[in-house]
Amino acid sequence: MTDAPDHARIADRLASQGYAVAPDFLPVAMAARLADEARALRADGHMRRAGVGQAGGVGIHDELRSDSIHWLEQEHASPAQHAYLDALESLRLEVNRSLYLGLFDFEGHFAVYPPGAFYRKHLDRFRGDSRRTLTTVLYLNPDWQEAHGGKLRLYLDPDGAGPALDIPPQGGTLVTFLSGRFWHEVQPAGTERLSITGWFRTRGEGVL
Ligand code: OGA
Ligand code: MN
Repeated sequence: MTDAPDHARIADRLASQGYAVAPDFLPVAMAARLADEARALRADGHMRRAGVGQAGGVGIHDELRSDSIHWLEQEHASPAQHAYLDALESLRLEVNRSLYLGLFDFEGHFAVYPPGAFYRKHLDRFRGDSRRTLTTVLYLNPDWQEAHGGKLRLYLDPDGAGPALDIPPQGGTLVTFLSGRFWHEVQPAGTERLSITGWFRTRGEGVL
């Protein structure tokens, strides 16, 4: 499991650049177990096409995203899910200690991107949900190959144009970034792409 120095490094990176990429945040065996759980949820019919929030509610937009999701529930969490949620909780405390973001709670879901699925360029903090402050994405595929594609493209400039960082979704890697600051997109993959995406939220209206 990730120890506190790793969490401190993530907090440092968030303070200096607004995002952090932490390979091996979880042992790859743990990521693989979570991948099995994601596949089982899909096989048992517990995945739903993900919506896109807009004024007036959440709707399915095939042209914007084509993944399917299942929300995590603390009271039904498996041991592997608990281990991940516990690691996130200590990260939350560390980030609050050093960045004063006032992160209060967490919401997150498994996401399955079938081959060819994508999520077009977007910001995670949309109108009507200003509490989402820090995005966390944990990748679950244990042996992701360059040829599979499926990278997360993180646009480094606030206008969402210009230079970008392409991050392969390698199992065990955690990507965190300020939800209201970084435009990003999921590129299509040649194979099934598995992740747990979530958000630390503030208590009231967002502080950023
Ligand atoms: C999201 C998202 C990124 C990824 O679910 O909002 O942007 O790499 N996910 O899966
Ligand atoms: Mn997103």
